[in-house]
Amino acid sequence: MVERVTADLPALKGRSVVSLMEWTPEEIRQLLKTAQWMKANRNVVETRNLLSGKHVALLFELPSTRTRVSFQVALGSLGAEMVWMDWGSTQLGRGESLEDTARVLSRYVDGIVVRAKKHETVQVLRRFTTIPVFNALTDRAHPFQVLADALTISEEFGGCSEIKLSYLGDGNNMAHSYLVIGAKLGMHVTIATPKGYGPSPEVVKWARAESAMTGGSVTITDDPEQAVFGADVVATDVFVSMGDEGDTDNKRILMQKFQVNDKLMALAKSQAIFLHCLPAHRGEEVTGSVIDGLQSKVWDQAENRLWVQKSTLAHVLAD
Ligand code: CP
Ligand code: NVA
Repeated sequence: MVERVTADLPALKGRSVVSLMEWTPEEIRQLLKTAQWMKANRNVVETRNLLSGKHVALLFELPSTRTRVSFQVALGSLGAEMVWMDWGSTQLGRGESLEDTARVLSRYVDGIVVRAKKHETVQVLRRFTTIPVFNALTDRAHPFQVLADALTISEEFGGCSEIKLSYLGDGNNMAHSYLVIGAKLGMHVTIATPKGYGPSPEVVKWARAESAMTGGSVTITDDPEQAVFGADVVATDVFVSMGDEGDTDNKRILMQKFQVNDKLMALAKSQAIFLHCLPAHRGEEVTGSVIDGLQSKVWDQAENRLWVQKSTLAHVLAD
């Protein structure tokens, strides 16, 4: 089994996960395949010591429930130790540089899971460490979340290729990450946001070019009804992300017609599923009837964070 987990992807050993843009479709598919295998064989003993003797730091600048717990459990279940670093109680909180912190951590631990306000923070850490850096959310990307979403979609539809995924709401880190993973896996991704809240034009341009090679497509619109029409997957996220709390009243008003409710879900395919990375605000970006309804897969989606992270940690860190 150990061979089965590690032999397939020697190219991923020691790699960082800052953005999935840097990963090939085949590498992403292999990670998902291993995650699926681990989930189906959760009681096998062979993976329990795969990362025995390894230590991984969790450095978080922003709050977290799912990411923090699922990384800690994934590491523990592979035999590794987690070192918790709350940003504000480290010397970073008192002005020590990221570069020096990165150099020092490289001497103690085997990897760093980092949740940061700015994407550049993760890039700097990666540049100055000699160990893998795992992006646990920045303002630009949430790679492990969309890996979990891709696993959930695969479980429902047998794969991601040619799936129509429609994301409604803010053009935030989740919107960008759906564009990236959708382009990698040949999905038809539609992002619907109010005017002025769309995703970054550079990411859209990149996703269009990548999709042209994988059979996917990218649609950007400000029409939520057109966006969800015929969708296999309807996804949303909070209207106001962490660290983005200015201008919230006006934004929430503009976002109202992007709320995922029964009326919008009825325009998607009858077997469509609903995804939300959580935390959710019922009555704001989604109604209780949708998130707590039969089409919602949010609890599987949340669970799948554990499996994709366990798979990635095994591929990247195992000897
Ligand atoms: N979805 C997600 O990343 O949740 P947390 O902020 O609770 O980690
Ligand atoms: N877009 C949200 C995701 C939370 C997991 C945020 O950045 O706050």
